[in-house]
Amino acid sequence: MHPSLLKLFILLFLIFFSPASSSVTAAAPTALPNCLDKCGNITIPYPFGTSSNCYHNSGFYIACNATYDPPRAFVSTTNIELTGISLSDATATILTPIAHDCYAPLGLGPDINNIWTDVSGLPYTFSHTRNKFTALGCDTVALNFEYNVLDYSSGCVSFCDDQSSIANGTCSGIGCCQTSIPKGMHRVYTVLRSLRNHTTTWNVSPCSYAFVVDQEQFVFNLTDLYGFYSKNEGKVPTVMDWAIGNATCQQVNGTEKFSCGANSYCVDNDNGPGYRCNCNSGYQGNPYLADGCQDIDECADPGTSPCAGICENTPGSYACSCPQGYYGDGKKSGSGCINKPKKFPLIQAVLGSGLSFLFLLVSGSWVYWIYRKRKLIQLKEKFFKQNGGLLLQQQIASREGAAESAARIFTAEELKAATDDYSESLVLGRGGYGTVYKGVLPGGRVVAIKKSMVVDRTQIEQFVNEVVLLSQVIHKNVVRLLGCCLETPVPLLVYEFVSNGTLHHHIHGAPSSLSWETRLRIAAETSAALAYLHSAIARPIFHRDVKSANILLDNNYMAKVADFGASRLIPLDRTQITTLVQGTLGYLDPEYFQTGQLTEKSDVYSFGVVLAELLTGQKPLSQRRPEEERNLAIHFLLHMRENRLFRIVEPRVRSEGSREQLSAVAELTQRCLRLRGEERPEMREVAAELERARRGRTATEDAAADAEGETESSLGRRGETRYYTAAPVMIHTTGDVDLDEHILLSLEMRR
Ligand SMILES: *[C@@H]1O[C@H](CO)[C@@H](O)[C@H](O)[C@H]1NC(C)=O
Ligand SMILES: *[C@@H]1O[C@H](CO)[C@@H](O)[C@H](O)[C@H]1NC(C)=O
Ligand SMILES: *[C@@H]1O[C@H](CO)[C@@H](O)[C@H](O)[C@H]1NC(C)=O
Ligand SMILES: *[C@@H]1O[C@H](CO)[C@@H](O)[C@H](O)[C@H]1NC(C)=O
Ligand SMILES: *[C@@H]1O[C@H](CO)[C@@H](O)[C@H](O)[C@H]1NC(C)=O
Ligand SMILES: *[C@@H]1O[C@H](CO)[C@@H](O)[C@H](O)[C@H]1NC(C)=O
Ligand SMILES: *[C@@H]1O[C@H](CO)[C@@H](O)[C@H](O)[C@H]1NC(C)=O
Repeated sequence: MHPSLLKLFILLFLIFFSPASSSVTAAAPTALPNCLDKCGNITIPYPFGTSSNCYHNSGFYIACNATYDPPRAFVSTTNIELTGISLSDATATILTPIAHDCYAPLGLGPDINNIWTDVSGLPYTFSHTRNKFTALGCDTVALNFEYNVLDYSSGCVSFCDDQSSIANGTCSGIGCCQTSIPKGMHRVYTVLRSLRNHTTTWNVSPCSYAFVVDQEQFVFNLTDLYGFYSKNEGKVPTVMDWAIGNATCQQVNGTEKFSCGANSYCVDNDNGPGYRCNCNSGYQGNPYLADGCQDIDECADPGTSPCAGICENTPGSYACSCPQGYYGDGKKSGSGCINKPKKFPLIQAVLGSGLSFLFLLVSGSWVYWIYRKRKLIQLKEKFFKQNGGLLLQQQIASREGAAESAARIFTAEELKAATDDYSESLVLGRGGYGTVYKGVLPGGRVVAIKKSMVVDRTQIEQFVNEVVLLSQVIHKNVVRLLGCCLETPVPLLVYEFVSNGTLHHHIHGAPSSLSWETRLRIAAETSAALAYLHSAIARPIFHRDVKSANILLDNNYMAKVADFGASRLIPLDRTQITTLVQGTLGYLDPEYFQTGQLTEKSDVYSFGVVLAELLTGQKPLSQRRPEEERNLAIHFLLHMRENRLFRIVEPRVRSEGSREQLSAVAELTQRCLRLRGEERPEMREVAAELERARRGRTATEDAAADAEGETESSLGRRGETRYYTAAPVMIHTTGDVDLDEHILLSLEMRR
């Protein structure tokens, strides 16, 4: 073949095989089909629209009035003018009126010193991050309210004697003052007053002005003290946040109300109700349209392309490579493409590299396939190790023969089948750390399966924690782990299941069904389990989230402590550790909250709250109590201090319990709730006292009885074997947990 023909052939070959450097994408639409996306020069993207069937719901209607030139946009059916909408940060800019109040003899027009801007009923709130409530003047008192004068929200005062005292460009209280507005306001009522009718300062500043303004669009200038109102035609730009609907992402996800399109994700609105949509990374466009988010062609413009060599656009991303004869990762931010020294004539080099490229492609993908397979196996092994699999294996090995009590390792497929592919209808509850499903194993055994909601590093650690902890703990009053699945990135935990709910449900579900005797037994059992965790095993475990919703009851109302998601194993030589503050509001130890120092006394405090719940039947946090007594611990302590115990004890408890028993338990509760951890009793003392109260003995009688060997203390000591009997059956359901109350606090305490 003629050399030039060969060249041509190779060239064609290369062109044919070289990756496409760009793909053609149509201009992304911003509005629904057949809908206007402009009003004058203002872009109106969906969910907003200027005619019916063009907006998401009537709150997003924009009235476009074409009698003006250019046409002007108005918010829904109000007379509030709109000057811009931003999809990326979910804001809209509107014009709001300026309140003014002037020195009367100058005849500057009638004062307008009480002004409403009201968007209630519409999906907008005043942005508290972008806007500032601002007042200008030298005899100025300005206030802003959400509802009426009784509902004070904020305000500021500005005075000055002469012009020279006013700093140029800074709004510092002399001539100009500013204050933040509260989050989530739907309407703003501005009231402007002067103290001396501007009589002394009218030649410096004859008027006062007050308004809510976008701080990015307002810079104070001395000239603003004159005629600010007329200069701005009575209006200033104000930024509004907007959101879709009034539900959270989780509530609408998967339902037909969900309004985020393909290649987008949902974000909860943290300024008020509703949610927003954003395009996934690598995509751009209008995330509220079904196909609004379109792939960004990173390769389209060689100037901004991230690649130094060949750029290939892929959905949501891109790939860089180098042309034949070059090596490197092809990225501008990386090594780029580096020329290989050429030893061969051009044709051979091109042909050679073309062939070796093909060879590399084939062998590379083969090697990659093998690598992926190995990686998967390694990953499974890694998860297995990381998830405490080795420990579990040891346990299983050491318990051969006792097949019923050994923790089992389930396969991912087994659990998928058991829960009907994690069907929503089998969800028992959602806790702080995960979702609990009811499952049926082949053979008909009913189990509870706990699965993390999000694949998140910190949560995996919590699960690992729970596996490791629970596989070590065997106590009749601690929920027992049947097994787990370790092949998935998030380990799944399998517990046995009985449907008798949580203590929280039994105390607070109406009508309360627990007798005083049962309550006392539950308290004694729970404290024994916690004492065991604190002191009876080789290394102490602090539960960290003791609460009635984490105490499960079996068919005989036997207590079982559950949910070790937050627990920490404590190294032997330390009794306190500094950690993230974690727990449930209402149960959280105030000392721990303040110092971040975790001690076993934090569990004692939380257990004290549970005792108070058992005595009073009241919730740990309640809006029904006076504000300063919302917290049950405080409410309880106040009553105790004033000797009014019998007023807050639940009627059923009052009629069933003896006076001595109730006083003893209440006094114990009081000690558990002491502010200083040091002054609280240890968990084993608590357990011992509860056991005494149950049997109606005094401490001395009890000691005597113990000496005679007549009774068995329910308090476990290190190594006592009777606590290692496997519990037969347990429940794990968090279905009764009141999620509103389950607010997780996570504050990083740094010192
Ligand atoms: C629209 O036009 C007006 C005047 O013609 C101009 O002041 C304003 O900046 C324009 N707005 C946009 C978003 O282009
Ligand atoms: C448009 O604005 C003019 C002038 O303010 C007003 O008279 C008219 O009613 C408006 N048109 C619509 C459709 O709101
Ligand atoms: C404010 O700035 C202007 C020019 O920028 C200057 O002439 C004037 O003296 C300044 N006033 C004060 C009080 O600093
Ligand atoms: C301000 O004006 C009002 C009404 O015009 C009058 O009642 C009031 O006394 C005046 N206050 C001062 C301090 O001059
Ligand atoms: C204040 O406004 C005047 C007139 O608009 C302008 O000339 C001056 O530069 C402004 N001063 C500052 C400090 O922005
Ligand atoms: C949410 O809005 C819908 C209709 O707009 C209403 O029916 C529903 O009650 C609202 N829900 C809440 C929790 O406000
Ligand atoms: C919505 O549900 C899908 C599965 O149906 C899930 O992958 C996604 O993470 C959920 N998104 C949110 C925000 O909950």
